[in-house]
Amino acid sequence: MVVVVYSRESEMLGTRLAEELKIKRMTIESKTFPDGESYLRFTEQVTGQDLIVVQSCYPLQDKRLIELFFTLDTAKELGAKTIIAVIPYLPYSRQDKRFRVGEVLSNATVGKLLGSASADFLVTVDVHHKESLNSYAMRTINVTAMPLIADYLKKLKLSHPFILAPDKGAAANAQLVASILGADCDCFEKRRDRVTGRIETSERCLDLVGRDVVILDDMISTGKTIVNVSRIAAESGAGRIIAACTHALLVGDAEVKMKEGGVTDIVGTDTVDSFASRVSVAPAIVESLRQFL
Ligand code: R5P
Repeated sequence: MVVVVYSRESEMLGTRLAEELKIKRMTIESKTFPDGESYLRFTEQVTGQDLIVVQSCYPLQDKRLIELFFTLDTAKELGAKTIIAVIPYLPYSRQDKRFRVGEVLSNATVGKLLGSASADFLVTVDVHHKESLNSYAMRTINVTAMPLIADYLKKLKLSHPFILAPDKGAAANAQLVASILGADCDCFEKRRDRVTGRIETSERCLDLVGRDVVILDDMISTGKTIVNVSRIAAESGAGRIIAACTHALLVGDAEVKMKEGGVTDIVGTDTVDSFASRVSVAPAIVESLRQFL
């Protein structure tokens, strides 16, 4: 039997996946000890079961990851058969290269630890670079939320929409969404100072008068990347400026900064829970999980 397993932090997505797949669900009891350590307990037998373990990993990426490692390792030790880890937002996916000598390869280490904690499969959504999953010890499935985001954008009745990718890494997603919307699309160039974190975006001449603009990225963290593009779009005469992404981390005052930079609306998905979670990735994850049923 296949069972969806989740703790309190992942209840919304876990419940939804179980309902849509019409399979049994099981909760994991969890609490935090006074010193900050995590306590977890399976509330039913897992011996002989195939498990889909759902773990939201933001905020508190480190805590959520270690809880996931405990859960996977214990499930195997208690006799679970196949274990599929569903991590909608995969933390550390941006540190997939050694940009400066001596840097840790956090993304690769997360992959190794998932493997040694006994995950047989990993399902994630719009990972930063899908090639970064090649080093993972288990089979990985990266599903994309872009068609779902495009469907949501259609409902906004945008005027002559123009999709902007803030950097080359976002270009393929921007082209995909633009093709679904029948919109135009362009890609900016971004440089990040690896020491200070400062982001520079090359200025571009675009005629956006009378057009609504969607700035599309895989994730929005501090919002600086979006603000740089939004300022250029506003100066180029854009109407509405929508910042859209899969993972809306929205750190600190990101929302305020983006609004001050001309952004009129922020659209994200439920891979990370926030006011911007307008799109559910559940249908895309469900589709990928059907192959295991
Ligand atoms: C990096 O290239 C990512 O695709 C995003 O552009 C980046 O993480 C966004 O970060 P921030 O919102 O802090 O500019």
